[in-house]
Amino acid sequence: MSNQEQVTLQKIISLTKRRGFIYPSSEIYGGWEAAYDFGPLGAEILRNLRNLWWEEFVVKQPDIVGLDGALISHPRVWEASGHVESFADIMVEDLVTHKRYRADHLIEEIKGINAEGSSPEEMDSLIEMHKIKSPDGNPISKAKRFNNLVEVEVGTVESAKTRAYLRGETCQPIFYNFNLVKDSMRKKIPFGIAQIGKAFRNEIKVGPFIFRTREFEQMELEMFIHAGDAEEYFEKFKNWSMEWLANIGIEASNIRLRDQEFKERAHYNKIATDVEYNFPFGWKEFQGIHYRGDWDLKRHGEFSGENFTYKEEETGEEFIPHVVEYSIGLTRLMFVLLMDAYREIDDRVVLKLDPRIAPYKAAVFPLVRNKPEIVGKARGIYEKLLKQGICVDWDDRGNIGKRYLSQDEIGTPVCITIDYQTLEDDTVTLRDRDTTEQSRVVVENIPQNII
Ligand code: GAP
Repeated sequence: MSNQEQVTLQKIISLTKRRGFIYPSSEIYGGWEAAYDFGPLGAEILRNLRNLWWEEFVVKQPDIVGLDGALISHPRVWEASGHVESFADIMVEDLVTHKRYRADHLIEEIKGINAEGSSPEEMDSLIEMHKIKSPDGNPISKAKRFNNLVEVEVGTVESAKTRAYLRGETCQPIFYNFNLVKDSMRKKIPFGIAQIGKAFRNEIKVGPFIFRTREFEQMELEMFIHAGDAEEYFEKFKNWSMEWLANIGIEASNIRLRDQEFKERAHYNKIATDVEYNFPFGWKEFQGIHYRGDWDLKRHGEFSGENFTYKEEETGEEFIPHVVEYSIGLTRLMFVLLMDAYREIDDRVVLKLDPRIAPYKAAVFPLVRNKPEIVGKARGIYEKLLKQGICVDWDDRGNIGKRYLSQDEIGTPVCITIDYQTLEDDTVTLRDRDTTEQSRVVVENIPQNII
């Protein structure tokens, strides 16, 4: 049976809560809609993904540098970016319960019609034509725009100046800092600026699970180029993206590229291609490759007075740089990876995560817990691996078979057992998560065999 037939949303929600990956936020207060806390194992996966992405898209690239911008910036940033005016979903309200729904989602769920990007008037006629009611069977309001930016109040003086926005996309600090980065890092076009960080959206429709939340994390790369090179970079980013996703272990048949139609595109995009995953609830986007044209630098120039014109040294040509963007949701990528890695093999549940992504690289077991020499030797190996910066788990409960099952379920690639033979020849048993095969290696060679 393929993993697509085995994995369900419920299995992932229950496994990730029980084993310390993802908890519903504020559970002791009754929970908080669409917010999740990442437990010890989830935090490790996120850290591993951030590191892998940064290594690939920043450290290894001579023409790309990193940035870590503020979460709350000047409110004018979001006026210039077009988000205050155009970053909106169209919603309808149940006239009895006052629950709100994204109009396009409701139309799709009830009538199977893709209405994404339609105007409120177009949504109204679809709703009228198909006599669409709320999921509770009640009449619904006219469709209207609902801005997704999350407003915050900062500062101590009560005035318009205290109203700001949590960033609606991670990348805006990249655009308003363009000149500072270019000059301080002596960069010439084409060059890129990348950033990993949180973004916030007042989503009307959230879920399922961590797929759509109001607080999430993105990994974004903005490539500043000459307009004439846009097509080349767009193709390059699509290929690069698919290669990296394959490299971190995502099954090729479960992902696909899909070009967005004109009406689906965000206000800043000229061309957009989604990378989609075959979730149990359908093919859904988890990454976007976007050609944003000169929208961002031009608008920030107009709103701030900063001159973003770039002069090419060789030709003397002056232009506002264009942008090709790579944007992937970190938390959504983690969801994809958990779904994709889930397997049921005989009596085992196995998370077949790439070892670089798995929370623990190995687990250390003393064969028995009542022999001080064995426990002491195992403890020594465990602590040495930790000191080397290798994230490993310790388990001395129950029988070895149960310990294997417990580690398989959280994706630990290798289990290391210290037994009677270890005391004689300084070798341990390594057991592989995927094949369940066992081999013996000398203690000194453990690190090379587990990462
Ligand atoms: N800077 C471009 C941008 O933000 P986007 O398509 O709106 O583009 C990019 O978002 C990625 O961010 C999405 O493909 C998705 O992985 C993630 N994302 C967007 N909204 C999200 C949400 N509410 N919850 C979780 N992830 C989200």
